[in-house]
Amino acid sequence: MVPRPVLSTSLASVRRASSTTKAAVKKEGSIADAFNSLSGGNKKDLPPRFLHLKQQIVHGREDRIVSSWHRLLEDLRAECDLIARKGPKIIPEVDFQDLESDLPAISAELKKRGTVVIHNVIPEAEARQYKEDVETYIRVNPNTRNFEGQIFELYWSFPQLKARVHPNMLSAQSSLMKLWTKSNPGSPISTSQPLMYADRLRIRQPGDAKFALGPHQDGGSVERWEPEGCGGVYGEILKGNWEKYDPWDVSARVDANSNLYDGLGACSMFRMFQGWLSMSTASPYEGTLLVQPLLKHTTAYTLLRPFFRPVVGYGEIPTDQYLDASNWQFTSGSDMTSELHGATPGHGQEFTEFQHPHLELNRTMVHVPKVRPGDYVVWHCDSIHAVDKTHKGTSDSSVLYIPVCPLTERNAKYAAIQRQAFLDGTPGPDFSGGIGESQHIQRPSLQDLRGVADIDGLRATGFEKLVAANSDTAGSQDVTSIANTVLGL
Ligand SMILES: [Fe+2]
Repeated sequence: MVPRPVLSTSLASVRRASSTTKAAVKKEGSIADAFNSLSGGNKKDLPPRFLHLKQQIVHGREDRIVSSWHRLLEDLRAECDLIARKGPKIIPEVDFQDLESDLPAISAELKKRGTVVIHNVIPEAEARQYKEDVETYIRVNPNTRNFEGQIFELYWSFPQLKARVHPNMLSAQSSLMKLWTKSNPGSPISTSQPLMYADRLRIRQPGDAKFALGPHQDGGSVERWEPEGCGGVYGEILKGNWEKYDPWDVSARVDANSNLYDGLGACSMFRMFQGWLSMSTASPYEGTLLVQPLLKHTTAYTLLRPFFRPVVGYGEIPTDQYLDASNWQFTSGSDMTSELHGATPGHGQEFTEFQHPHLELNRTMVHVPKVRPGDYVVWHCDSIHAVDKTHKGTSDSSVLYIPVCPLTERNAKYAAIQRQAFLDGTPGPDFSGGIGESQHIQRPSLQDLRGVADIDGLRATGFEKLVAANSDTAGSQDVTSIANTVLGL
């Protein structure tokens, strides 16, 4: 049992702070709204301003970008072969009790692959109970909205809350955040304490083929090229130096905005990792996650792909020749279009074999290894990932989505609004509007949260004053102080 903390925060001060950080309420929706393909959106040409953006990006650095592209294609071919040979074994795995001690040894591979499976973060029996309790919550609240009966518009069920503030979960997240580094030591970000992000949950039944979410990246799409979005994060790639790009440098991401269009699937918080906690046993092909385990290369390819086109089209020559660098031409002048392959404003970035052929997705999207209840799977916020097209297992594949979020001013502002959403029983501001769970029975209260969360859990949820670690830089200490002000603590 987690000891009950002494609270310094009054509900009134929480409400005062939250009222100063309001967000526009979105319309009702589901996870389908997050992706153009799931929401039935037709492919429309991007407006001309994206063509102008592309022209500005390459201006004066055309040769470097072409040369960088050629080096990337050469590397990709060898790396894709390795992934296809190794399959799920290429994904690093570690037991929670060894995470802290083993992290230095596995960090290089983890950083290259972008994904890790951490076994036994939550005791198995406890994680199994989470699912049973979620099912009960759904049963007693039959009006719960859902997508195809499996992605539930639930953010505040007690199991979700318990999992998010479980000391092991917060400990795992703290360890994972240490993988990130600061190129600028003064960056206003703290990785010594995670903030909670309230996402949905999935209970996928055997045989399901409806929730077939193909390869995609979360966290926006066109924003990756836009200077006022996340363009600065990928500066080295767009300058023609993809090898110098560090996916694990937080400094450029502090001020990045991956939500310029406020789509229903947008994420306003900076998530270092997306992740889920398994509540069931799931092997490959049993409705589980697939990832393209080559983080830096795939990100570089995503960013550079819109500047090249094939000379001879797909299917007109053998695949090897089609993929060869000599068949890909830099686009300039009248050749260039506004297209940012797979990116549409307000939606996640989607990938196809046709639009992104050098990623060889048909053989490089690998399943994560078998998971059991209580295992925590995380993947870098830029990792390309997908869901099994068909769930071929015999029991449900069920997860609680729980990302890893550091402390930044932007994240603190979101946390302040989200905290009020918890009290009201409505979805966080990134998600669809409506009454949410406000009228659900058995929805946990603040008192219930206080009954299960320790001091770190209450900090993560915005109900207790954040405290900088002794090892924190001046930038981390400053942002901790700012966050406390934002949160009214
Ligand atoms: Fe996703």
